[in-house]
Amino acid sequence: MHKKITLENVRKTFGKSEARTVVLENISLTLDSKDFISVIGSSGSGKSTLLSIIGTLEKPTDGKVFYDVQDVNKLRANKLSELRNQHVGFIFQQFHLLPTLTAMENILAPLFHRNVSYNKESRAKELLELVGLADKHSSLPSQLSGGQQQRVAIARSLIAEPDWIFADEPTGNLDSTTSENIINLLTNIKQTTNCGIVLVTHDSALSGQADRVIEIKDGHIVKDQRKHQIGADTND
Ligand SMILES: Nc1ncnc2c1ncn2[C@@H]1O[C@H](COP(=O)(O)OP(=O)(O)O)[C@@H](O)[C@H]1O
Ligand SMILES: [Mg+2]
Repeated sequence: MHKKITLENVRKTFGKSEARTVVLENISLTLDSKDFISVIGSSGSGKSTLLSIIGTLEKPTDGKVFYDVQDVNKLRANKLSELRNQHVGFIFQQFHLLPTLTAMENILAPLFHRNVSYNKESRAKELLELVGLADKHSSLPSQLSGGQQQRVAIARSLIAEPDWIFADEPTGNLDSTTSENIINLLTNIKQTTNCGIVLVTHDSALSGQADRVIEIKDGHIVKDQRKHQIGADTND
């Protein structure tokens, strides 16, 4: 289990010499999987890059990333993908479902060619129920609405029982009511599965249910606020 992710002085640049862009600078963070964490900031502020680094999809130019005490940069490529396969799930704005597979098959896709200790099909069925799509298990993505497709993608992200879900603008292609439903679903998942959630969004209105809101601007953390504190006033 990886309950804590720590970033130490993370910096990320793209390009070389004069063409270099500094995308993230001086990012130090500890993320606790007990929290529903939202990362907000305007377009281009560095949110997706930050989430890719947190999720080990990209390496920082400088600085370190730890999963508990494991420095992920010290892992060989196969161990790193093992960590990713077993411990983290991703959700994206574009859903990224395979168009020729049914909802059920899409949910199972991350487990193709993998041996696991549980029954894959019954777990996938449970997840379809969890996301409210029990009756859609044989539907193709093209037969589902955007919100339903994102629910399938959410179920898929949970199939390997991850410690963390990383969601990059998961409601970016959805209308406001559907968006709200998806965020409610993520909040429920947080409560029922106990996995940590990092939600990246440029729409700060969607971070209302988060326990902690981190705001980035031009690659810097400008705000890091904890909400719903025990014993805190809740006048708002
Ligand atoms: N692979 C890349 N090469 C060069 N620049 C990049 C790359 N990825 C992101 N950037 C730049 O980094 C900045 C932050 O991008 P991104 O993390 O996608 O921001 P956000 O998700 O907040 O919109 C942008 O200026 C973007 O152009
Ligand atoms: Mg982005």
